[in-house]
Amino acid sequence: MSLRLGDTAPDFTAESTAGPIHLHAWLGESWGLLFSHPKDFTPVCTTELGAVAALKPEWDRRGVKVLGLSVDSVAEHRAWAGDIEDVTGHALNFPLLADPDRVVAGLYDMIHPNANDTLTVRSVFVIGPDKKIKLTLTYPASTGRNFDELLRVIDSLQRTSAHKVATPADWRPGQPVIVVPSLTDDQAQALFPGFETVKPYLRRTPDPVG
Ligand code: BEZ
Repeated sequence: MSLRLGDTAPDFTAESTAGPIHLHAWLGESWGLLFSHPKDFTPVCTTELGAVAALKPEWDRRGVKVLGLSVDSVAEHRAWAGDIEDVTGHALNFPLLADPDRVVAGLYDMIHPNANDTLTVRSVFVIGPDKKIKLTLTYPASTGRNFDELLRVIDSLQRTSAHKVATPADWRPGQPVIVVPSLTDDQAQALFPGFETVKPYLRRTPDPVG
């Protein structure tokens, strides 16, 4: 059965380009981004891994550890790494899990037989410091992901976990946020003095993160 938001991210130990990784211990108190791609030496995947490597300062700033996965071996990952740097100008700077026996792919339901019964799809899991799944996404093999959007979601998730706020459509850091509906107006006033009431159920306040 597929994983749902709020489920505990299945723990595993697997080989990677940075040696064996025991997921929960490796994550520690950090946020995690676990993403699968179908296969090494393929064009879209090459661009994606370079894009993720280029964003290293952004992952670090948010305390996010990034972990890629495909069903290929560590030796294949290492052989491919040079191409990723050649093509994108960014060397791999995060571990790539090898999953030739599809153990992790099975735990995270990353094989979709209607797409391809042996290759992982482009799955994304954002994992919180509590090891719970905060976001799942599945993209087709032919569509490279937008990792800026994943940073945006993580910015929203991190505000929601630290403050009683949600974020509106197309929100970007620095823009007003929404006071969660579970707060009464008195509670909202104590936490967000001067909040704006757009509708009784829609109250806005400045971004609590400076
Ligand atoms: C790619 O990464 O380019 C790719 C992988 C599997 C199927 C189609 C495209």
